[in-house]
Parts: sequence; structure tokens; C-alpha cells
Amino acid sequence: MSTALVHRFAPRGAAIEAWNYRGPEALLAGPAGTGKSRLALEKLHAMALKNPGMSGLIVRKTAVSLTASAVATYERDVAAEALLDGSVKFFGGSTREPAQYRYSNGSHIALGGMDNALKIMSTERDAVFAQEATELSQDDWEMITTRLRNGQVRFQQLIADCNPQGPDHWLKKRCEAGKTVMFHTRTTRGTSTPTAP
Ligand SMILES: Nc1ncnc2c1ncn2[C@@H]1O[C@H](COP(=O)(O)OP(=O)(O)OP(=O)(O)O)[C@@H](O)[C@H]1O
Ligand SMILES: [Mg+2]
Repeated sequence: MSTALVHRFAPRGAAIEAWNYRGPEALLAGPAGTGKSRLALEKLHAMALKNPGMSGLIVRKTAVSLTASAVATYERDVAAEALLDGSVKFFGGSTREPAQYRYSNGSHIALGGMDNALKIMSTERDAVFAQEATELSQDDWEMITTRLRNGQVRFQQLIADCNPQGPDHWLKKRCEAGKTVMFHTRTTRGTSTPTAP
């Protein structure tokens, strides 16, 4: 009998469209607890597993705020099985390299804050998850997009999440201008079997 650990995830509602989206900039917007961060983290994890050498980044305005949020969801809900069976290992970082999850196929997903941008911006990426993107400046956002050219995945993507903001926010305007595609997450339920990006 096999003892392999199986990870299960099925996006719901608008998260299904965000999962399948292959364009350069996606924004998940919706109330707390509607699965925004989970979707983005699952997508990066699936990209890392399927595409050896994939380079990912999970970024927030400050590195310290990442630990209690995205890191907790990633370790508890997304990569729990992979961390247990050793196919993903955590590296705590060094003076030269940011903290990161290293995959046995050569992929990695780094962690960092825009408060120490030099450390995370020197590396090219296939996908970046920007958590609580409304905390970022437009300069932060554009700097991140310049790093999206690692070419180990068929598409490169900045995927971000936020709680809904007023109409004057630069990110809302960016969506209205068609540069970023917005996906509205809700607490609806639905099922599907996603294919890995
Ligand atoms: N498709 C899903 N299947 C099972 N659990 C899910 C799914 N989507 C989200 N969850 C779980 O629901 C909880 C809330 O999800 P998540 O943290 O992604 O919400 P959020 O929209 O980012 O909220 P916040 O705005 O507070 O950051 C988490 O425990 C997450 O693992
Ligand atoms: Mg979240």
C-alpha cells in the first residue's frame, strides 16, 4: 500500500479563473477569508512542482508581516505534505540569499519584503505573489514586474491580493487601464479539478 502524501486543492468561484489566467498581472480582490492568498500560494507551488528550475517570490511591503500571514498559510495548507516528505525544504537565508523554500527539482520560492528590496530583486522570477498589494507603491509594483523574466514556465506572472480599496487607489486605476486583470473573490462554493500551470 502506498504511503505517498497527497495534496488536495480545488479553487472556488473567481479563483478558478485566476488559477487559469496566464497573463502578466492578476489581482485577487475580495473580503477577508475568501481564499485570495491560498489561491496565489497554491498557484506558485504548482508552478514550482511542475516546472523544474522555477523561480518564485512571495513578497509583502515588510518582511516581518509575511511570516504571520502568507508563510503560515503556505506551510499549513499548501506545502504541508511536501515539507513532510522532504520534497520542499526551508532555507532560512544568509547575508547573500533571502529565506526560501527549496524544491527537490531545483525550483525555489523566496520570501522577502520591499523594505529590503535589494535582497529579493536581484533574481529573475517566473511568478511573484505580492500579498496585500495595496500596501505597495506603484514603484514597488513596477520594480517587481521587471524581474519577471526567468523563462522556466511558459508564462510569467505577478499575482497579487488585496481587500477592496477606494476608486482612487493606483492599483484600481491600473486594473481599469487594462494592465492588471482583477478577480473578485467571494465566499461562494464550487468545485473543479484544476490542472497545474
Ligand atoms: N479552495 C479552498 N479549499 C479549501 N480551503 C480553502 C480554499 N480557499 C481558501 N481556503 C482556506 O480558507 C482560509 C482563508 O483563506 P485565505 O487566507 O486565502 O483568505 P484571504 O482571502 O487571503 O483572507 P485575508 O483577506 O484575511 O488575507 C485559509 O485557511 C485557507 O486555507
Ligand atoms: Mg490573505
